[in-house]
Amino acid sequence: MPRHAFLPELEPALAYQDRAEVVMSDGEGLPVSASTQPGMMAIMLGQLGLARGHRVLEIGTGTGYNAALIAYLVGSQGSVVTIDVVPELVARARANLAAAGYRDVRVVCGDGAAGVPEHAPYGRIIVTTGAWDLPPAWPAQLGPGGRIVLPISIRGIQLSVSLESVGDHLVSRSACRCSFIRMTGAMTGPESLIALGPQPGLHAQAVDGPAPDAQELFEALSGPAAGEPTGLRAASIAEVADLDLWLTLTEPGLTRLNLMGRHESRASPAQQQIAGLMPLGGLAHADGPGGLGVAAFTFADSQAQPGSFEITARGYGPGGPSLARHLARQAAIWQELGRPGTDDLELSALLPGTPPETIGGATMILDRPHARLAARWPTS
Ligand SMILES: C[S@@+](CC[C@H](N)C(=O)[O-])C[C@H]1O[C@@H](n2cnc3c(N)ncnc32)[C@H](O)[C@@H]1O
Repeated sequence: MPRHAFLPELEPALAYQDRAEVVMSDGEGLPVSASTQPGMMAIMLGQLGLARGHRVLEIGTGTGYNAALIAYLVGSQGSVVTIDVVPELVARARANLAAAGYRDVRVVCGDGAAGVPEHAPYGRIIVTTGAWDLPPAWPAQLGPGGRIVLPISIRGIQLSVSLESVGDHLVSRSACRCSFIRMTGAMTGPESLIALGPQPGLHAQAVDGPAPDAQELFEALSGPAAGEPTGLRAASIAEVADLDLWLTLTEPGLTRLNLMGRHESRASPAQQQIAGLMPLGGLAHADGPGGLGVAAFTFADSQAQPGSFEITARGYGPGGPSLARHLARQAAIWQELGRPGTDDLELSALLPGTPPETIGGATMILDRPHARLAARWPTS
């Protein structure tokens, strides 16, 4: 499928790099739409498990490239409906798809949270914009034996999950970390950004827990770090990310923190340095006994075993050293459990208000307006 035909503003050769390409930004320079990284598209299409003849709904048309790939995979017996909320993108995608020979793909303009009921039921639904909740229209428009693939934010970590119906709820069959532009409208979720430092350019996102005071957090992250070696090595950064995910979904008492540079050019050198402290995000004890504590896993090339990484827990702020020790102890438990990762995670989307005692083995329950999400690691 020629990607350059869907990205006419790019030099054709550049369209064949494994990179997301922003195609529209807002007044502040933040991306509104992008052609997803091809490697990630392939992972999600794999999660979707497409077959010839499937009727598919895509939420987030963008350039139309993914819709064309889906149309190719389901063939002339199948059908594709795709919806985007931005009229200009819808017009461009229609033109791109027609030029590529995929006139049969229906491109609809509207809020994808409502799905496209006129053409339901669908055998497969794929969402290519970051959701925080599960609108009831999606499972309602899914036919028997159907599957939904969507990037969902779980405590500040975005996971592409494939969900299948089991009775009155949905259960994940696979999960993979991802990073999508957030969906606009009611499914966006709260964005609890804390501005850090004297100049604009650095924010912390505090999710699912008490938010630390902005000044205290900035001072903690500007100060010295207490390093607590875990004694563990990882073969890849993805393994450290698995540890971070496991801990984030087993420690409900801690606030999840992500640091993000916005308009980096305006941030001071100190702010830019802080922005790089937690490549995978961190956890905070906003009102711990010793004061604010922030801790995160970091990784550095191993001297003892070249090609692997040593994992260290780093703590910041007055409560940082004890929190880093706690994280290091939890890392040992993760190791004993056989290093559970995204492949082992089971995420269920249940009806709101489902009694917790009926959700066996969940390590974390998160409530959304339209769903109760439960995370379970089979090894725990
Ligand atoms: C990462 S892009 C999609 C990439 C696209 N699948 C492609 O192949 O180019 C995300 C898209 O979701 C759209 N979007 C965001 N919120 C939406 C909503 N509520 N309903 C429908 N589309 C939405 C954006 O306008 C944007 O075009």
